[in-house]
Amino acid sequence: LEEFQPGWELSYIVLTNGREARELPVAQDHKRLQDNDEGPNTGGMGTVAPLQLNETLRGRIEEDIVDPTIRLLEKKGMVYRGILFIGLMITADGPKVLEYNVRFGDPETQVILPLLDVDTGKLFHELSRGRLLPFGLRQVHAACVIMAAEGYPDNPVKGSPIQGDLLEGSITNYFVHAGTRKSSEGEWSVNGGRVLGAVGLGSNLKEAIACAYRQSDKARWQGMQLRRDIGKKQL
Ligand code: GLY
Repeated sequence: LEEFQPGWELSYIVLTNGREARELPVAQDHKRLQDNDEGPNTGGMGTVAPLQLNETLRGRIEEDIVDPTIRLLEKKGMVYRGILFIGLMITADGPKVLEYNVRFGDPETQVILPLLDVDTGKLFHELSRGRLLPFGLRQVHAACVIMAAEGYPDNPVKGSPIQGDLLEGSITNYFVHAGTRKSSEGEWSVNGGRVLGAVGLGSNLKEAIACAYRQSDKARWQGMQLRRDIGKKQL
C-alpha cells in the first residue's frame, strides 16, 4: 500500500562524496503528458530550473532528508560517490520522498548542467575520488520542453520522418536528442518515446521558457506531442 501524496513535485539533486553533500540547482519536472497536469504519467515532459526555495523548506529538505540519507549510507559502510536524485513531493506536512535515483534526471539534466559554472569533467572525476569540489552557478535560467512521439507514453510510433533542422540552434537555444535516428542519407526520424528536448536559456525564467518554445518550433513530425504550459506554475 502507498500513501497518496498531494502537493507539488520537485527534483532535489545533490552531489556527494559519501560524507558531504552539496545541492545542485533545484529543477521542476512536469510528469503528466498534457497541460494542467492531465493525462497519463510519463518520464517527464519538461523542466525549469533553478527553483527558488524558501530557506525553511530548504532547511527541512537538508535536515530531514539529505543528511539522514547520507549518514545512513555511511553507517552501513556503503560509500556512495556521485549524484543522488531525490524526487520530492512538497505536501501540507512538508517534503516527502517519492523516490531516490542514483543518476541525473531526464529532463532535469538538460536544465541543470547549463547552470553550473565549473569544468564538469573535473568535478565528477574528483568526486569519484572522494573530493567534492566547490562549484559556481551561472546567473541564468533554463527551460526544457520535451517533444514526444505520437502514441507516447503507451505505444510510441517510431519511424516518422522529422521535418526541420535538428542542428539549428545557438548557445541559448538548442535541441538535446533522445529518440532520434539519422539515416545514412542524413534524414532524421523518430526513434523513441521522448524524441527531442528543446532547451532555452535566459536571464529570467520567462525568457528561458520563450526561448525553449521558439526552439521547439524548429522541428515537427506527424502526431508530435508537447505541453504548452512548461514552467507556467513557476511564473
Ligand atoms: N524526470 C524524472 C527522472 O528522470 O526520473
